[in-house]
Amino acid sequence: MSKTSPSTEYHIPVLLSEVVEGLQIEVGQWYVDGTIGGGGHAAAILAAGGKVLGIDQDAEALAEAERKLQQTKNTTDQIVEYRLVQANFRDLAEVVKTQAVGEVAGVLLDLGVSSHQLDALERGFSFRSDTLDMRMDAGQMVTAADLVARLGEADLTRLFADLGEERYARSMARAIVRAREQQAITSGGQLAEIIYKASPAAYRHGSLHPATRIFQALRLAVNDEIGSLEQVLPQAWSVLSKGGRLVVISFHSLEDRPVKHFMRQLSVLGQAKVLTARPLTATDQELRQNARSRSAKLRVAEKVV
Ligand SMILES: C[S@@+](CC[C@H](N)C(=O)[O-])C[C@H]1O[C@@H](n2cnc3c(N)ncnc32)[C@H](O)[C@@H]1O
Repeated sequence: MSKTSPSTEYHIPVLLSEVVEGLQIEVGQWYVDGTIGGGGHAAAILAAGGKVLGIDQDAEALAEAERKLQQTKNTTDQIVEYRLVQANFRDLAEVVKTQAVGEVAGVLLDLGVSSHQLDALERGFSFRSDTLDMRMDAGQMVTAADLVARLGEADLTRLFADLGEERYARSMARAIVRAREQQAITSGGQLAEIIYKASPAAYRHGSLHPATRIFQALRLAVNDEIGSLEQVLPQAWSVLSKGGRLVVISFHSLEDRPVKHFMRQLSVLGQAKVLTARPLTATDQELRQNARSRSAKLRVAEKVV
């Protein structure tokens, strides 16, 4: 059982109606949810009459999705069909092939981590965590604690600059190297404190915790999130049938950029119609209800050939 913060929802799906509309769900067609998480978006796809092939690399997420989708199944008269597979979405095409679902009418990618992953202190994603793990897939070898313990100052600086876009990457890397000479850094709490102390005063009084970008960089590196995203995009496109939709939700510019470029290139090649000239963002109402939606950007492309 996970030790979590008081929030009881596993994860509140962001931009839910925009996702359902973006996928243009047709009854009886298959939709691949490459980041099924707690199954919130997938449940809405099922409720709209679609079938779902759900993928996640996190076994805990799949268990929660199974619970949620069973609930949907038990509360509707419609025929509900779904399959769940534990895999990295960088293997999406292979999963679709193995599951032999045939034509795919839509692919959804809701990138990053779920609220549950962030809140579960033993998963090591947060400033208050007891560990410094950050693996979405518990079977992976390298944790954030490994990176913090083993990378040299120059490599840490590069990591924080490239994947965290952190202005003070160098001084923060130096603070980590100094601190670990005294004591091993094994928890999110410890790391957040080290970064806080190494931050300029203006950072400490800002709206973001000074360690936000450092934690982002470590998480992206541990899970090779940008590499996986670059691999999944052409695969997602290749499994779509003509008229199918690719819907991607990103939460920061490092994720949004490859998605935007990918869709733009396909459009230039005459293979896609990009349906979101500007990415869709949360309404004021959603922002009030779910703070996590504030950085969400949704892009949709339709396969035209
Ligand atoms: C933002 S959550 C998705 C939430 C989901 N849409 C919902 O409604 O509950 C992202 C999920 O994607 C998973 N994930 C992230 N990157 C992945 C990857 N490369 N392969 C498979 N799953 C991934 C995470 O483990 C997490 O459960």
